[in-house]
Amino acid sequence: MKNGAWVTVTGTGTIPLKEGRRVSHGDHEVAVFNLGNKYLAVDNRCPHKAGPLADGIVAGQAVFCPLHNWKISLENGCALSGGKGQVKIYPVKILNQKVCVAFEEGALSEACKERTADSLTKPVRDPNS
Ligand code: FES
Repeated sequence: MKNGAWVTVTGTGTIPLKEGRRVSHGDHEVAVFNLGNKYLAVDNRCPHKAGPLADGIVAGQAVFCPLHNWKISLENGCALSGGKGQVKIYPVKILNQKVCVAFEEGALSEACKERTADSLTKPVRDPNS
């Protein structure tokens, strides 16, 4: 990672446990979540209709979009329920009780493609059989 890639966005104490906060830098708008043992960051725009993921309900390692309840993984950005799609994930580190995000390193995870391919190739079970 390039030197200077990390941007301090807030203090660790400003994001309550299991909540998200919207932070922005340049063209990036990112939702940073406090999961207790770690902080994770994803794009703040839901892949469905751009709902603000920072305002969603956190459940485990995922967030439910506040608009139509799609479930988005905070670890890989994949839509886990609701529909197909994904958001970028961003590296986060804690330095001197500050949350730092590498905005320029945001990326789409390959895991979502595999997940989609899996769901397309697995046979659909007929519930009546
Ligand atoms: S905008 Fe997020 S579920 Fe519709």
